[in-house]
Amino acid sequence: MADPAKFYLSYNQIHKTVKRLSEEIKSTGYDPDVIVAIGTGGFIPARMLKTYINRPIYTVGISYYDENDKPKDAPEKVQWIDEVENKLEGRKVLLVDEVDDSRITLEYCLRELLSHKPAEISVAVLHNKNKLKEGVIPDEVSHYFVGNELEDIWICYPWDAVDIDEQEKMAHTQ
Ligand code: G4P
Ligand code: MG
Repeated sequence: MADPAKFYLSYNQIHKTVKRLSEEIKSTGYDPDVIVAIGTGGFIPARMLKTYINRPIYTVGISYYDENDKPKDAPEKVQWIDEVENKLEGRKVLLVDEVDDSRITLEYCLRELLSHKPAEISVAVLHNKNKLKEGVIPDEVSHYFVGNELEDIWICYPWDAVDIDEQEKMAHTQ
């Protein structure tokens, strides 16, 4: 059931946000060698971004919440790019995720990736929630790109929709 207190987005709206984000990234001259997508929310945005910034996409999976939606003590790797980690050394990396919420997962990923000595690392998120953050973006990160700044509300992404027609309808009435 659609909940009017939540913020619904369509694929079309997200595609346009990604396009804008790509233009902002290009305007700074940041030209990544590789994209790293944080799964699973970052997978589809990273693929959309590839349409505008055509680079190989590596994926990582991090879980910070348990099966009861309670935060764990620390994020855990569900899937990691062990076999390609060494390919990050000396490369320019763009880390992509859908939402910057607590920032804990983002910080964890950034620190892990930084330990593999990339030439440079930047991060791009579709949405940043304006709230007190528990994590920090490390100083070594050269750019932080945001599609849209939002208040602290629950965002419903189309890839989570069970009823995509209802999702589209909600996305267009908000
Ligand atoms: P952060 O560093 O990016 O801020 O992430 P944080 O640890 O705070 O929590 C991340 C998890 O919570 C992610 O999912 C993220 O997708 C989800 N999340 C946070 N806010 C929202 C929201 O408004 N809407 C939706 N749909 N998800 C949100 P995850 O459990 O790590 O994995 P996955 O869902 O990406 O597979
Ligand atoms: Mg999620």
